[in-house]
Amino acid sequence: MLTQAINRCQHRVNLYLSTTFDHLPENDPNLRAAMRYGVLLGGKRVRPFLVYAVGEMLGISAERLDACAAAIECIHAYSLIHDDLPAMDNDELRRGQPTVHIAFDEATAILAGDALQTLAFELICQDDSSFSASQQLQMTKALARASGYLGMCGGQALDLAATDKAIALDELTQLHRLKTGALIRCAVELAVIAAEIAPEQRQQLMTYADAIGLAFQVQDDILDITASTEELGKPQGSDTRSNKSTYPKLLGLDGAKATAEKLLQEALSAIGNLPYNSQLIAEFARYIIERRV
Ligand code: IPE
Ligand code: IPE
Ligand code: MG
Ligand code: MG
Ligand code: MG
Repeated sequence: MLTQAINRCQHRVNLYLSTTFDHLPENDPNLRAAMRYGVLLGGKRVRPFLVYAVGEMLGISAERLDACAAAIECIHAYSLIHDDLPAMDNDELRRGQPTVHIAFDEATAILAGDALQTLAFELICQDDSSFSASQQLQMTKALARASGYLGMCGGQALDLAATDKAIALDELTQLHRLKTGALIRCAVELAVIAAEIAPEQRQQLMTYADAIGLAFQVQDDILDITASTEELGKPQGSDTRSNKSTYPKLLGLDGAKATAEKLLQEALSAIGNLPYNSQLIAEFARYIIERRV
């Protein structure tokens, strides 16, 4: 059931994104091609999946969620394009393909990331949105915060600062919550804003989102060691080569796996008594820490 649901979301958001690019004018075909390449060549679509799965669980149709799902994937793709740049992780392979700065060039990769970021906000703020102006504003704020200084960018800065250094577990946790957790949390938040649910249920879903957001990066750290370049579609051992601060480095592989399992239990207990059918998002939480890609 989960695999089918993930496939459905992948097709759906890919089609929406592809149509979006088709409708962009031919201003700069090279930049547009780099944006399309960075977003559309592969990727699991974890964040769009969460928007659709949580939104549909709360009674919102997939059609109404398309723009939010595409927007969050644009931010994610931008973060990956910049993460791979020589000034950051300096990686040449992503989703089994040359990274954007290799396939194009560095300046184009920087601009493609920038333009994908702003495209995300255009998608959320469309005039013909089915959401109220107040909801669009809340979505914009949530996505801006999760992407910027208090979210992904802030976390990436902490990640760079923690390179070649030993940091404490609470610092590493904060780093991971920001660089990766914030955007995953935001996927759930966008769906929650769309559905306008009661504060108590909102809180339960956000606790779930916080737990799987952190678990996602813990598993990413584990996979950097335990999966192959072919499986991952990105260079195995990138963290070790760059001497990054990671969960396995700090806690050992078994300690990192135990943390992921603990976070899964936290996520499951948060949604245990929701008055909705939470089976799909429960399966998804398990997938986060059991995935091999
Ligand atoms: C990789 O994200 C970077 C992290 C934030 C850990 P994903 O594992 O979601 O990458 P894709 O989108 O599937 O390629
Ligand atoms: C990336 O963390 C987090 C982002 C904000 C992109 P990583 O540097 O571990 O991601 P991968 O392993 O390159 O995908
Ligand atoms: Mg990185
Ligand atoms: Mg990286
Ligand atoms: Mg990684």
